[in-house]
Amino acid sequence: MDRWKGRTALVTGASVGIGAAIAKELVRFGMTVLGCARNVEKIQKLAAECQSAGYPGVLIPLKCGWKNMLDVNVLALSICAREAYQSMKERSVDDGHIINLNSMCGHRILPNADIHFYTATKYAVTALTEGLRQELREAKTHIRATCISPGLVETEFAPRLYSQDPVKAANIYSHYKALEAIDIANAVVYVLSAPPHVQIGDIQMRSSEQVT
Ligand SMILES: NC(=O)c1ccc[n+]([C@@H]2O[C@H](COP(=O)([O-])OP(=O)(O)OC[C@H]3O[C@@H](n4cnc5c(N)ncnc54)[C@H](OP(=O)(O)O)[C@@H]3O)[C@@H](O)[C@H]2O)c1
Repeated sequence: MDRWKGRTALVTGASVGIGAAIAKELVRFGMTVLGCARNVEKIQKLAAECQSAGYPGVLIPLKCGWKNMLDVNVLALSICAREAYQSMKERSVDDGHIINLNSMCGHRILPNADIHFYTATKYAVTALTEGLRQELREAKTHIRATCISPGLVETEFAPRLYSQDPVKAANIYSHYKALEAIDIANAVVYVLSAPPHVQIGDIQMRSSEQVT
């Protein structure tokens, strides 16, 4: 991870859950992290935690807000990728990395009506990440594109999805030990640590007890 020290990362959804764990890890590795979400106060708190832990990097909170699931999962992801690539081009950065948070739902359809639309957005992430990889190759850059596809991760995801039904939300995490946010942050570190000639397209990861 040495080559990322002092460089800049943009982490979306950095206030809680997976994004917060990723932001913290990248600061621990000495990066300047722009963390964005709606609850900017939570990112400020995270920044203070990183500082008091003596991490060499810095976390800068940014406020951002998108409307609905399609906006967040597909539109925001595409706009961020486009802007990140433009910014890299302008600054002659040819070894950047764009990592999309996908899901196992981007690879198979579960018989659960509550997540069919979510699943559709994640299938889009699978297509967009592979499409981006091809575009970056065609443009002869060395910028890499990767997606990480976790199964169930214990975060605020279920409590938010089932905000009207806390019992159902709690039940989701009661059947087996789910992945933790830090497991996904570790996958990000693994992806960033790969030697320049290695392009990791997708990491599919589940709890060892998850079936589908
Ligand atoms: N948890 C899982 O089981 C799981 C499994 C597979 C994939 N994933 C994927 O992992 C990613 C992160 O999920 P998570 O589990 O960490 O969820 P989470 O704990 O609910 O966190 C979601 C993050 O996104 C931000 N966010 C939500 N709505 C937003 C909006 N409209 N505009 C701007 N920011 C918004 C939230 O911050 P604010 O509320 O402060 O804006 C928060 O920082 C998602 O792409 C999810 O699909 C999760």
